[in-house]
Amino acid sequence: MDPAGTGLAVVLPVLRCPACVGASGGDGALHADGALHADGGVLRCAAGHGFDIGRGGYVNLRTGRARRIAGDTAAMVAARQSFLGADHYRPLTTRLAELAAASTPGARSAPNPGRDAGTGTNFRPASPAGSVPVALEIGAGTGHHLAGVLAALPAGAVGVAVDVSKYALRRAARAHPRIGAVAYDAAGPWPVADGCVSVLLDVFAPRNLAEMRRVLRPDGLLIVVTPEPGHLAELRGPLGLVGMQPDKGDRLDERTADRFAPAALERLDIPLVLSADEAVDLALMGPTGHHRTAEDLRDQVEAAWPGRRVAVTVRLAVRCYRPRG
Ligand SMILES: C[S@@+](CC[C@H](N)C(=O)[O-])C[C@H]1O[C@@H](n2cnc3c(N)ncnc32)[C@H](O)[C@@H]1O
Ligand SMILES: [Zn+2]
Repeated sequence: MDPAGTGLAVVLPVLRCPACVGASGGDGALHADGALHADGGVLRCAAGHGFDIGRGGYVNLRTGRARRIAGDTAAMVAARQSFLGADHYRPLTTRLAELAAASTPGARSAPNPGRDAGTGTNFRPASPAGSVPVALEIGAGTGHHLAGVLAALPAGAVGVAVDVSKYALRRAARAHPRIGAVAYDAAGPWPVADGCVSVLLDVFAPRNLAEMRRVLRPDGLLIVVTPEPGHLAELRGPLGLVGMQPDKGDRLDERTADRFAPAALERLDIPLVLSADEAVDLALMGPTGHHRTAEDLRDQVEAAWPGRRVAVTVRLAVRCYRPRG
């Protein structure tokens, strides 16, 4: 697929060849900076490594050495798309957009998704460390929050949606014309240039603090969203939800302390009243979705709330950090 038909064309300046970055290209020679250019439907570096842009509109920048993890399943991603599409997490997307905009010169103060349908065709590949705002979301899922953030940033801003799930990446590639969707593992070295990201989002996603610090601009902003105690408590017992252990905020601050300075902490509660289908989607789009089916969850919802709507509270912490020195 030609990158011109995808947001990859506009995020190319920030991407790096994963086979070249920080090491030899496998043939023993040290290759320049691993910058990538488009060659038909392939992204290539100067050393000749090539990465196909698939029909799903995303590029796989995982190398053969990378561990094989699949990320969220088709059913989990479909549930996330449907749940977020119904705007239940709008207060979170709005807050992320406001925080990103407040940190970015020239941004609108409030998001207005309806006004932002830019194709990015005027975007000139600036130097990655240049002034074009770059938002990157690690574990971006369907790209829903990233698209909301881009809508609040200046018109040339570009977004990189990173995930390992092909189902998520296909959705993210279509979430906004200036989102480029890229497959790589958060745990490994990131195929992203140094100091080029202005807003880095981590929303219920894996973290890699060393790489997060490396790719963030000196004046960049890291936003981390984690569940708080009581998050989805009403569903937890009846549906036997797994995972989602609340991340102790002080522990997160501790772990980030040598690389990031805490800049803000907000708690966000979103009370929801859901249909049975929506409650199933909410359960399925989280870690529980790795272990359970929609049918199974649906039976449990019907048993616990027969013919009734389901009241549930989303409890989140939104933490902002600035890179240290
Ligand atoms: C709970 S979802 C959050 C999605 C998105 N941030 C949102 O809030 O809508 C976590 C996402 O991280 C992805 N993921 C899991 N492990 C990953 C890894 N090692 N590297 C990159 N993405 C990963 C999953 O495929 C999934 O899409
Ligand atoms: Zn290369």
